[in-house]
Amino acid sequence: MTERREFRWPHPLQGNSQEIWYGGDYNPEQWPEEIWDEDVALMRKAGVNLVSLGIFSWAKLQPSEDTWDFDWLDRIIEKLGTAGIAVDLASATASPPMWLTQAHPEVLWRDERGNVCWPGARQHWRATSPVFREYALALCTKMAEHYRDNPYIVAWHVNNEYGCHNRFDYSDDAMKAFQLWCKKRYGDIESVNAAWGTSFWSQQMGDFSQILPPRFIGEGNFMNPGKLLDFKRFSSDALQEFFRAERDTLERITPDIPLTTNFMVSAGNSMLDYDAWGKDVDFVSNDHYFVPGDQHLDELAYSSSLVDGIARKRPWFLMEHSTGAVNWRTINYRKEQGQLIRDSLVHLAMGANAICYFQWRQSSSGAEKFHTAMLPHAGEHSQDFREVCELGENLKVLSGAGVTSSTVVKSSVAVVYDYESEWASEHTATPTQQVRHWTEPLDWFRALADCGITADMVPIRADWDSYEAVVLPSVYLLDERNTKRVHDYVATGGKLFATYYTGIADGDDHIWLGGYPGSIRDVLGMRSEDFAPLGTDVSGVLDHLNLSNGAVAHDLADVITSVAGSAQVLAQYEAEEWTGMSGIPAITLNVYGEGLAAYVGCRLGREGLARTLPDLLSHMHITASGGSSSASVLRVERVDVNTQEHFVFLFNRTHQDVTVSREGTVLVSSRATVHEETSTATLKANGLLVMKY
Ligand code: GLA
Ligand code: GLA
Repeated sequence: MTERREFRWPHPLQGNSQEIWYGGDYNPEQWPEEIWDEDVALMRKAGVNLVSLGIFSWAKLQPSEDTWDFDWLDRIIEKLGTAGIAVDLASATASPPMWLTQAHPEVLWRDERGNVCWPGARQHWRATSPVFREYALALCTKMAEHYRDNPYIVAWHVNNEYGCHNRFDYSDDAMKAFQLWCKKRYGDIESVNAAWGTSFWSQQMGDFSQILPPRFIGEGNFMNPGKLLDFKRFSSDALQEFFRAERDTLERITPDIPLTTNFMVSAGNSMLDYDAWGKDVDFVSNDHYFVPGDQHLDELAYSSSLVDGIARKRPWFLMEHSTGAVNWRTINYRKEQGQLIRDSLVHLAMGANAICYFQWRQSSSGAEKFHTAMLPHAGEHSQDFREVCELGENLKVLSGAGVTSSTVVKSSVAVVYDYESEWASEHTATPTQQVRHWTEPLDWFRALADCGITADMVPIRADWDSYEAVVLPSVYLLDERNTKRVHDYVATGGKLFATYYTGIADGDDHIWLGGYPGSIRDVLGMRSEDFAPLGTDVSGVLDHLNLSNGAVAHDLADVITSVAGSAQVLAQYEAEEWTGMSGIPAITLNVYGEGLAAYVGCRLGREGLARTLPDLLSHMHITASGGSSSASVLRVERVDVNTQEHFVFLFNRTHQDVTVSREGTVLVSSRATVHEETSTATLKANGLLVMKY
């Protein structure tokens, strides 16, 4: 593991002060040059101070192997820069041109059946191809040499959303790289055999050349879980190594320009181990697209909190989100009234010091022509553009009030997220396919918010053990190191909540034996002997279990058969005798060392957790802190540690009006009415308030 890079943030253009960056991806090559001036004028009108350029420009910058054309890019950068708009410049390597892939089809990635991913969209390249690497790094070199002295480039945007389409490659290049990766990780083939449990089904390998990527094994068959988990690790690492090669090439020539690459952190997406990537960028940046429906605000807050955790609470950059609908879901819902501004300010509340969109001007052709943008098809005389301008004003006010010097106040509760637990729990041979790691952290984040607590989402490598309370939500893998951390944390006074499907296996996905959750049974003071999946796919099986506290379990319950003398049972199942679950403990609480450890042995979902938590929190002596700590409002606070100035963000979580109390000077409000006489405010649906005290 290399060290974390020093934090570096894009500097403002000369003569400007540090402000919240505001703008988006800009693709001027999609448009005739005649409209570039209008673009720049409207950007100024909207308060845009940064755009990302060149992300998909390779074919235009290098029209053939030996010809380069930077003139058009020079012209637009000059126009932008002289108008005070900074540039986050891409390495432009995301989508290789046709001449390259026709001359070198060996750079195209292959799927698990060996089929080629042909050009026709983007990211049709493999990270492990030495040929592709050479061409991509040559482009990085040209870009950096050409723009090394350009005063308007404030950051490098390396590639784009690595792994979005080319996460898994099963080519021979990938196979060789996977063999090397295994060699580096394990040293000798016997250790790989041991880690992957290859004595099962006669899979022993005699040397590293026998390691294959997890290629097609027939529908419905089951891939070796150890190999599959390692292939996910390898695939994340291979792309990360490619990123580092691009980064280092750019940095050699332009050492003063900070570099980032845009992650895709959201609750349902664990393609890459973004926490491992976080140490390799100068500043973390993220792309986030809203989940329509009742999760919208909570999922957004959860994801941005996780980005804040990955950034270790240093400022981060919202590189992309949408003003309205995307165009890649089956049904692409609009945003509701107020959500354009609200969503941006939630990211800001959670630590983003840059608010950017995909994209500036909505395309009229190409695969994303129905994806909304800052300047929609309808043009500047549109509700969306007016709100984009209003948001620009809001951001100016917040910059002026000093928000960029503040960071997110640490919560009392950390909810742990672990990419590898998600990867391992995705395997198809498990007690139930209804249970994976990622859903549980989101349920806890939401249920805690229902109790007035805005938790911090904390990656497992980070400092979750410094919080008053910690949730391990279906953290399926607990290696020796994290097992020890859990022990030390509770022994020294920590308050732990662990759930079903936590601590089942070690870092190699070998089951901890002797009963579940193997490695932390003693901390929790309970032992489960079996899994009781709950389902509806066949009639006559248990589909739910009622708990004595009124909550209802779905999907999975643990068969807890013993509870230590130091533990108490807070709830048990109420079921008929034949089920074998009647009277089985569902929720337990143990005293361990100086700390407390609660176990929730079934999937309660957000609703069941919200019902259970008030009692559980009070057993654990945890109180919701902060002002308006009601379920109807999401409250986030940032603080400037030097001036002790606090910024309070309140967001209405409901579709009804809610009344909140004023906690200082109101800086920004949206869909809110402030009542001076009573020092309160009413937030409409999607309404918000930002205050300073
Ligand atoms: C991703 C990509 C963008 C664009 C948006 C919208 O985030 O980085 O280029 O495709 O999605 O779909
Ligand atoms: C079959 C196979 C066994 C085992 C069981 C349980 O019967 O013959 O090797 O895989 O299924 O899945």
